[in-house]
Amino acid sequence: MEGVMMDVVLVCLGLVFFRLWWRYWSVTGGGRKNLPPGPPGWPIVGNLIQVILQRRHFIYVVRDLRPKYGPIFTMQMGQRTLIIVTSSDLIHEALVQRGPEFASRPADSPIRLLFSVGKCAINSAEYGPLWRTLRRNLVTELINPARIRQCSWIRNWAIKSHMDRLLKFDGGIVHVMSECRLTICSILICLCFGAKISDEKIKTIESVLKDVMMVTTPKLPDFLPVLTPLFRRQVGEAKELRRRQLECLVPLVRDRKAFVLESDNVEDENVRKIMVSPKGAAYIDSLFELEVPGRGKDGGRRRLEEEELVTLVSEVINAGTDTSATALEWALFHLVMDQKIQEKLYKEIVDCVGTDRSPYTDQQKPQEEVITESDVEKMSYLSAVVKETFRRHPPSHFVLSHAAVKDTELGGYTVPADASVEFYTAWLTEDPEMWEDPGEFRPERFMAGGDGVDVDVTGTKGVKMVPFGAGRRICPAWTLGTLHINLLLARMVHAFKWLPVPDSPPDPTETFAFTVVMKNPLKAIIVPRSSMSSTKI
Ligand code: HEM
Repeated sequence: MEGVMMDVVLVCLGLVFFRLWWRYWSVTGGGRKNLPPGPPGWPIVGNLIQVILQRRHFIYVVRDLRPKYGPIFTMQMGQRTLIIVTSSDLIHEALVQRGPEFASRPADSPIRLLFSVGKCAINSAEYGPLWRTLRRNLVTELINPARIRQCSWIRNWAIKSHMDRLLKFDGGIVHVMSECRLTICSILICLCFGAKISDEKIKTIESVLKDVMMVTTPKLPDFLPVLTPLFRRQVGEAKELRRRQLECLVPLVRDRKAFVLESDNVEDENVRKIMVSPKGAAYIDSLFELEVPGRGKDGGRRRLEEEELVTLVSEVINAGTDTSATALEWALFHLVMDQKIQEKLYKEIVDCVGTDRSPYTDQQKPQEEVITESDVEKMSYLSAVVKETFRRHPPSHFVLSHAAVKDTELGGYTVPADASVEFYTAWLTEDPEMWEDPGEFRPERFMAGGDGVDVDVTGTKGVKMVPFGAGRRICPAWTLGTLHINLLLARMVHAFKWLPVPDSPPDPTETFAFTVVMKNPLKAIIVPRSSMSSTKI
């Protein structure tokens, strides 16, 4: 009963607010002037209801609006103003040429703030000292080339387990996405905590973190924060999820800390067994030491707290798992559908590593170092297949939401500092002015003479495809993500021939699940290459 009264009071407050806003709307004709044009909205809710009524994800709504409204347009989503930027020139101007001006992030909803502990994550921090400290630490401790090389044993170990699991599917059906997610997630957990944990625990962490990602994608309360009190159920569910996230990861944080400090806890044989990276080699070891600005008393520096540590490692695991597994699923989709491309790739791999290095010389067990990381660097067709996958199926159709550091202009229009600036980068890769037959999957376009051969995926020289974003906020780990994909793809194609499941061909329909994935996850039949010399497939 008390709850109902509360709702009535909140609805009344909402109505008063709506009345005030309506008056403001009627007087100003929709608010600030010189915003980019956009679809006419309704009073108070703007375009929000129109988008909801379409029952499609926002990325598809924007795709349809682009031809009408062009390179830059506005969508008023409830209280939030979204400036959508779609043209190559404007994206390059904002992200690269005037990078620092557009390098901030917009305000977060209460649910997002819960998971980021008040924007204490690289991806959500505003452009400023906290972001700089966290990002610099990630780059020096996890992504520098020496550290990447030093951790190659982690990839070898995880990919060997991956291949062992696939071998059990011999002639059977592989669920590509779930296998790749498990492997990449185990690599990232080991990089973060220096720990080898059971597949069962990895799966639990992976599933909780996937839920975190889905719950933090923009929803109704994000667009109408004034009504947040009405969304008590959603906030309650988010708090419960945060509790589960902490329950999964805090024990690992504590075990690693005990290991690093050599406290009595490490007498625990189990902790010793799982902590496989030496002290100082795990990402979290650097976070234990890090002093971050702006979080201490009176805005000073202080060490990170346990909840913040959980947020920062979760960010790395989340950012690297879905993106890479999505790319692998789409790449294998095309290899299954087009056996000529698959055979061309297989031939390049065999030409490079030779036939002696068969993955099955060791009593039907894949060897650890069948294809090394320096081998994949030499495989130009592999690189072309992966680039074409990013072009044809960018894991994210927008980069993360950006914000201008102060009111500014772009394309002759005002961009207010409190607007979300959304860069629709997927359009670049579909633009027939930039790509020949953009709908075709054709890795050769990235080989000599092709229309993609000079493409710079970091967007510095110009933006034609930017799967990792560009400028200040570009994905700091794009080389690591690409390495995971190249290595896994090369080893999977070297060891197995990938075939469609008879009577159930792969379906390219897309759906949004933080990244843009296959609606019906890819299933494929695998046949060990070693068995094929005697059996004709
Ligand atoms: C194929 C794999 C990957 C893809 C396609 C990808 C893509 C992206 C994109 C599009 C952004 C947003 C850029 C922007 O807002 O302008 C981003 C940001 C980020 N990514 Fe990645 N990423 C990948 C792998 C990884 C991995 C492996 C990690 C961590 C080890 C990672 C960590 C991050 C972080 C921390 C940010 C936020 C950067 C910031 O706000 O300064 N990503 N990534």
